[in-house]
Formats: sequence, C-alpha cells, structure tokens
Amino acid sequence: MPQPTILLTRRWPAQVESYLAARYEITLNERDMPLDPQALQDALRSFDAVCPTVTDQFTVQVLQAGATRCRILGNYGVGVSHIDLAACREAGIVVTNTPDVLTESTADLAVLLMLMVARRAGEGERQVRAGAWPGWSPTHHLAADVSGKTLGVLGFGRIGQATARKAQRGFCMRILYHSRRRVSPAVEAVTGAVHCATPEELLGQADFVSLHCPGGAETRHLLDAARLGLMRRSAFLINTARGEIILEDALVDALRTGRIAGAGLDVYEHEPRVPAGLADLPNVVLLPHLGSATLETRVAMGMRVAENLDRFFAGLEPHDRVA
Ligand code: 8YV
Repeated sequence: MPQPTILLTRRWPAQVESYLAARYEITLNERDMPLDPQALQDALRSFDAVCPTVTDQFTVQVLQAGATRCRILGNYGVGVSHIDLAACREAGIVVTNTPDVLTESTADLAVLLMLMVARRAGEGERQVRAGAWPGWSPTHHLAADVSGKTLGVLGFGRIGQATARKAQRGFCMRILYHSRRRVSPAVEAVTGAVHCATPEELLGQADFVSLHCPGGAETRHLLDAARLGLMRRSAFLINTARGEIILEDALVDALRTGRIAGAGLDVYEHEPRVPAGLADLPNVVLLPHLGSATLETRVAMGMRVAENLDRFFAGLEPHDRVA
C-alpha cells in the first residue's frame, strides 16, 4: 500500500521531520514562508494530510473551494482559531491539535511577561545597552512587586491553571479566575484559585490580568475599552493567548493615557504586524509569539501531531481530535 502523503506547511524541528519521513511521504515547505489561500487550497487537493500552524488561515472559503483529497488537518499547536472547524466537519476533514505538551512553556512565558513588565526589565535592559545607565541610586528605575499581588486569570484551561499554579507557588500570589465553566473544587484547591462569576468582577480586583481563553469569534475583543476601563490604574495586562482577544487600539489608548500601568504581550491580532504606537510606549513588553518556542516543546508538539497521524492512518481515533 502506498504511504499517505503529508504536507508540513512550515519547517519543524529536524527530529520530528525525520520521524515522519520514515513513515510517510512527506513534503516540506522549503522556503518556510506562510502559505497563501491558493496554496492552502492546492494542499487540500494534493495531500492526504496537511499539518498547518497558526500562520495558515483555513477559512470557510479555503475549505469550501472544491473536492479535497485531504482527510486530516494535524495542527501544530493547541489553538485552532485559524481553522474553521464547522467547515472542516462539513468537508469531512478531521482536525487535531497539540494540547498538554506546551502548557508549561507557555505558562512560563506568561510569568516571564508579568515579571518583565512589572519590574520594567525591558526598559532597564535598553538603558544599559544604550550606555545610558547613570549608576545605582535609591530611586533609580523603581517598579512594582509581583510577589504577594493578585493575579486574575481569564480562561482557566490547562495553561491558565499552570500559570496560576506557578504564580501561587512561586510568587505567593492570590489567584482569581473566570472561565466559561467553573472548575472542580479539587482544581480550585490545587491552584488556590477563587472563581469570579464575570470578567468584570475579576478585572477590578486584579493587579495582573492574564489572558488564557481560546481565540475566535466568542472572545474577539473581549478586552475592549469598557473592560480595560474596569482594570486598576496600577494593573498590568498579560496576553499569551491570541491577539484578537484585545481591542488593540483601545489598549494603546489605555497605555498611553495611564489608564492601566502596563502590558506584556506575546501575541497580536494581525501577526506579525504589531499595532502602531505600541513600540513607542515604555510600559509595554513586546515578544514575537514565543509561548511554546523551546526546542523541547516544539519537538513534543511535533511528536504529538505524529501520534495523531499514526492513529488516524491506522484507522484509530486520534487522541486530540477537535473536529
Ligand atoms: C504555537 C500557540 O507556537 O499552540 C498554540 O496555540 O499559540 C503557539 O504556542 C503556534 O500556534 C504554532 O502553530
């Protein structure tokens, strides 16, 4: 029997590409540039499996474009808001993702952003590199503590819970959370988290607000001007989830006018474009979507996709099926 054909839309760590190459007929995107809608449609027509990333927009238009050969999208990443799941179901295409394996590295990055923005680490580093450090003084570069403060987590799935656990155990933070479904008392006990019935209830009480809900239509612009206006003036907003959850113009305004104290961002609504005005503000830390970017995690993500494909092509249900 011929081996199934698989397209990886971007280059993956070598170890995972080799694993897949030994089992499947794989095609790599040698230029490692995002594929446009036409290329994605061609891929659906030409391969048994397509393995996309967050840089590939599988819209309803792309998915409805005609007869497809592709039977599974093995997404490299946990978030799937770039894939129209309803259109996949309609087209009979299975979709899988990669939960669990990137939880810790992404939660680590949320903690990193909290520390960086509260302690003004980016500003300090820029000052040293520019040769502009005037030397130690009792009032030089004063910032805000993280330890002992209140963290509000919006979206309390795996990554939100891991962030809460690290913040509570590592920094003695008080944890509030809001999510669509209240978690079990056992999870609340492990993470030390107190449930808030609405985002509004959480926003006014938190020194740090960290976003961990999925992207997509339901959460688009959840943090708009009105909700940003409920945050404390001394509070910091952290986003390692999806850019579209924040109305970016409203955030720029809130940061510019001192309506909130700062923001630590890893994701943006129209990546790789960063909203105008943000880069000029000192009270914002800007990272280039690094949440899961450790070698260990990126290999684990690839192996998780491989396991999903192996099960699918063996006629078994993939563990991480989302559509
Ligand atoms: C990935 C992420 O790097 O898994 C996710 O949802 O946001 C990132 O950690 C990216 O999605 C890879 O496609």
